[in-house]
Amino acid sequence: MRTAELEMPKVTPLLPKASPFLIEQDYAAYTAEQHAVWAELVRRRMPQIDQHAADEYLDGFAYLHLSRDQLPNLRALSAKLECRTGWHTTAVSGFMPGPAFFEMLAARRFPTTTWLRSRDSLEYTPEPDIFHDVFGHVPMHAHPVFADFLQRYGRLCARVEDASILEVIGRIFWYTVEFGLVWQRGKVRVYGSGLISSNGECTNVISGGCAVKPFVLEEVLRTPVKVDQMHKLLFAIEGFEQIYDAMHELETRVDRGERLAA
Ligand SMILES: [Fe+2]
Repeated sequence: MRTAELEMPKVTPLLPKASPFLIEQDYAAYTAEQHAVWAELVRRRMPQIDQHAADEYLDGFAYLHLSRDQLPNLRALSAKLECRTGWHTTAVSGFMPGPAFFEMLAARRFPTTTWLRSRDSLEYTPEPDIFHDVFGHVPMHAHPVFADFLQRYGRLCARVEDASILEVIGRIFWYTVEFGLVWQRGKVRVYGSGLISSNGECTNVISGGCAVKPFVLEEVLRTPVKVDQMHKLLFAIEGFEQIYDAMHELETRVDRGERLAA
């Protein structure tokens, strides 16, 4: 028998690009102080969230039974999400390069950090932590249309190699997933994680510190992201089908090789 025949067949991991970044959440290692910090972060955000968050966010929060007192267990969250939208909340070691990140979104797995900010930095962390990722993002993954939109975004980005095109498409993510607004009952409501998880960013919007324009794909693609200052302009959708349809339109344009706004 030739040696080659004795070799084990190669198994391709489900997420070949992301697999080096996947970790297990060591839930038992969280300290009482960390659970108390989580509880404090939730307690501070809830008054504004109850009043100004989108219905779909609040519905997801209730569906997941997101704890107000204890850090979330990512496996338990994934089990709940799986039943409704097939999404998972998957623990990763930290920052991920684009191809690995997009591969996970395309597979309905949201890369989620497991570390939590300390009590000294309740208001702000330069890098996303588990509060931003879970409290800010995950409830929206229980909404079927948003869930499909996010997967579609990941799928498109996963097959685009040109960095300048990816930068323009990334503006969609920024002005929806991170800083999205939606009109509901005559009021602008927040659903983007950067607004949900941050008192300063959310207050800037609801106090009128930021212009709110209708979400128009072409205009969003033309609006560069500024990460180092409070927003002066954000975009509000009428409903979540709008961003799902926008992704469809964008896919068609990319497939045709159309030049996107710079
Ligand atoms: Fe985020």
